[in-house]
Amino acid sequence: MIIKQRILRNVSLNAHPKGCALYVKKQIEWLEGLSGVFSNFPKRVVVLGGSSGYGLATRLVSSILGGASTINVSFEREPSEKRTASAGWYSSHAFEEEAAKRGLYAKSIFGDAFSDEVKEATAELIANELGQIDLLVYSLASPLRIDPITGETYRSVLKPIGVDYKALSLDPSTGVIGEVVIERALAGEEEATVKVMGGEDWELWIDTLLAKGLLAPSFKSVAYSYIGPALTYPIYREGTIGRAKEHLEASSHTISEKLKPIGGEAYVSINKALVTRASAVIPVVPLYIALLYQVMKERGVHEGTTEQIFRLFLERLYTSGEVPTDSKGRIRVDEREMDKEIQQEVEHLWGLQRVGESLIGGDLVGFNLEFAQINGFGFDEINYEEEVDPFS
Ligand code: NAI
Repeated sequence: MIIKQRILRNVSLNAHPKGCALYVKKQIEWLEGLSGVFSNFPKRVVVLGGSSGYGLATRLVSSILGGASTINVSFEREPSEKRTASAGWYSSHAFEEEAAKRGLYAKSIFGDAFSDEVKEATAELIANELGQIDLLVYSLASPLRIDPITGETYRSVLKPIGVDYKALSLDPSTGVIGEVVIERALAGEEEATVKVMGGEDWELWIDTLLAKGLLAPSFKSVAYSYIGPALTYPIYREGTIGRAKEHLEASSHTISEKLKPIGGEAYVSINKALVTRASAVIPVVPLYIALLYQVMKERGVHEGTTEQIFRLFLERLYTSGEVPTDSKGRIRVDEREMDKEIQQEVEHLWGLQRVGESLIGGDLVGFNLEFAQINGFGFDEINYEEEVDPFS
């Protein structure tokens, strides 16, 4: 099969096996080039959503730097005769091959992390092969969740609350600025989004593993969240997804209480805006990210997912002494994005944009390249005219 990227509304419909493997290898190369002592990093790690984006980065940092045994639980499409697998499927397999070469334990469970079955299967794998775990990372980004008790399906939406929202947007394929009007959430949509992207399922995971004695003394858990600038508040932090993130953040406190008997702790880490499969589909975000990337790269403070998680481990979660947090108990690795001068510059650039015209400034090339590469495309080293086995 000859595989060229097909994109529909900022979603990549396919992925390239060799490119996904190269993406993983390049992240590993960067990690292996770092010097330092990482012996206090956790040794047995479960990453929910460990196949792509921030979750994949977490798996890479845990394994390659900390030498951890990792289990990834994610929802990915397998390859077929007619269709490639999803990027996360290829990336997970590529990572596991690289881990094996280094004598590191790495397994995946592909299925619905929200279901009781997958929780049970993961618990069994931990019990049989790892004994206990030291870290559970919650990095799911999902459009829907089936409640394991009622069987009801909840769908998350990315909408403002109370008022319609009109804003500039960027079509990354043309580089032209447009305008989007996003209608306010309908009755029930806010609650449904909290059901999917809030902390209920995270707490269920902890309850399940804690009850079975699978969490080691001083166990930690972290879930990823985002705040972002006022520019994106109506659609993000003050929208339906923001409500879900508030719930997730509140859950970290409930979970911490539950973990006290084993000396455990739970945190939310507020990470930086980056191009991932999940963020590319949020209205307004591609424009914001293109502008942010330009400003951060110019100032030499840009980080990708792997760099962010490296800093999260080294300077926050596994630093000697207390985990540093903000006044609400949240870990922050978004401080470079939120720096006042960076945000002022982004706002200035935002103000220059005109509907119907090409993006002024902004790192459109960087945005598109990263979006291509997380799906295995856009690498000079790979000949995309060549036949490739989608099962490889
Ligand atoms: P992503 O789309 O790259 O990864 C999502 C992961 O969730 C994938 O591994 C996918 O397989 C898994 N997943 C989805 N539904 C599942 C299900 N039902 N069962 C099992 N696995 C499932 O997304 P990204 O961006 O890495 O997001 C991860 C977390 O990081 C999210 O909570 C997101 O809000 C947060 N975050 C993302 C930021 C960004 O700019 N991308 C910034 C700050 C936080």
